[in-house]
Amino acid sequence: MRIEGGRPLSGTVQISGAKNAALPALAATLLTEGQVTLSGIPPVADIRTMARLLARIGAAVEERSDGYRVRGASEPEPTAPYDLVKTMRASSLVLGPLAGHYGRARVSLPGGCAIGARPIDMHLTGLKALGASIGQERGYIEAVAPRGGLVGGRIRFRRPTVTGTEDLLMAAVLAKGESVFENAAREPEVVDLADLLTKMGARIEGAGTRTIHVEGVPSLHGTEHRIIPDRIETGTYLVAGALTAGRLTIRGTRREHLERVIERMRAAGCRIGSPDANTLEIDGCTDLTAVDITTREHPGFPTDMQAQFMALMTQASGTSKVVETVFENRFMHVLELQRMGADIRISGNTAVIRGPAQLSGAQVMASDLRASACLVLGALAARGTTTLHRIYHLQRGYANMAEKLRAVGARVEIVDA
Ligand code: EPZ
Repeated sequence: MRIEGGRPLSGTVQISGAKNAALPALAATLLTEGQVTLSGIPPVADIRTMARLLARIGAAVEERSDGYRVRGASEPEPTAPYDLVKTMRASSLVLGPLAGHYGRARVSLPGGCAIGARPIDMHLTGLKALGASIGQERGYIEAVAPRGGLVGGRIRFRRPTVTGTEDLLMAAVLAKGESVFENAAREPEVVDLADLLTKMGARIEGAGTRTIHVEGVPSLHGTEHRIIPDRIETGTYLVAGALTAGRLTIRGTRREHLERVIERMRAAGCRIGSPDANTLEIDGCTDLTAVDITTREHPGFPTDMQAQFMALMTQASGTSKVVETVFENRFMHVLELQRMGADIRISGNTAVIRGPAQLSGAQVMASDLRASACLVLGALAARGTTTLHRIYHLQRGYANMAEKLRAVGARVEIVDA
């Protein structure tokens, strides 16, 4: 992606559906042979991978204008093969529904990724608490339910896990009896999945809080559901407006999903308005002030906005401290920002950013989804032209980013570099 920096953005951005809500929603279609119609799904690579995985398992997957219509398999092949899992670790989200609905699941162990080892031990411990026996052979995890199916149990997460909570919610909804989750993840995407499962006939109380109760039911049926908008895409475009001293109107979002991000950006001097609960306006910020952030599970500052916020802090006056507490290696973007002229020092899980620094365009390399977004933002603020390589990372989670940026005045093009 080639980006010419230094141009203020102005106009309207329409937010797409949340990739991290659409992925568990697609996995949930495995829980019924009824028809589930999901709309508001972003057209990004990870979603296409998940759709391929569902078809591989035996579901009938029909692509529609803004989502999918899925009918679960009657005779499934309950396996998530290596060739698909290696490209998308969120494939582990099929573990729970396969074990919960069909009594068995075989999922290739997801490798680590750029931001950390990302084990799934809590997913497996949770499945055992529901009666599954877990085996591992030739790089695959095997989960087998007792003959009568999974049985409700108590699951206490040692730390909140988003897809762990989602995976086990999908395992528990058809289990016999009641399940209780303690220290569950509270992200909006978890709540959206619980809303979908409830529409399918599940009985869930407390989604969005630390303690979730599930009363197992004999079966689930089809339904229709619109995916929530993407709060991280929203935050990314808010930073784009702030960094270029532009004026952006961001439509189709949910203000209440990113209160902490808005609070931190306002503390840095950004003027963010919100005429209604689904619209945010940022009319740039000329004199930014450095503020600190520490990433936390929701409702804390989201780790998925850490890299983007760091790009913003390179343009703020003063010293900003960014502490990453969720992943062990989520500073890959720092090296590339430094090559563009940012003044950042890392010690352990803390990065100290001194600003403002005049960034200059450069050849930079994407390493993971949010690091790529951070570099696009740096490029928009930089003087001169930046070429961002390996943008497949970006395309995993941002729908039509080049088009959306061009529509608000950015000079962006996709080139074969
Ligand atoms: C989800 O990943 C998101 N992905 C991530 O977004 C996001 O960064 C992350 O939650 C945190 O918010 C999807 O929803 C598809 P976790 P997930 O389990 O569920 C450790 C993006 O940019 N852990 O909440 O994998 C783990 O290593 C992606 O869209 C275990 O130790 O994250 C991490 O340190 C990147 N054992 C912490 O917990 C487990 O069994 C939180 O991870 C599970 C997790």
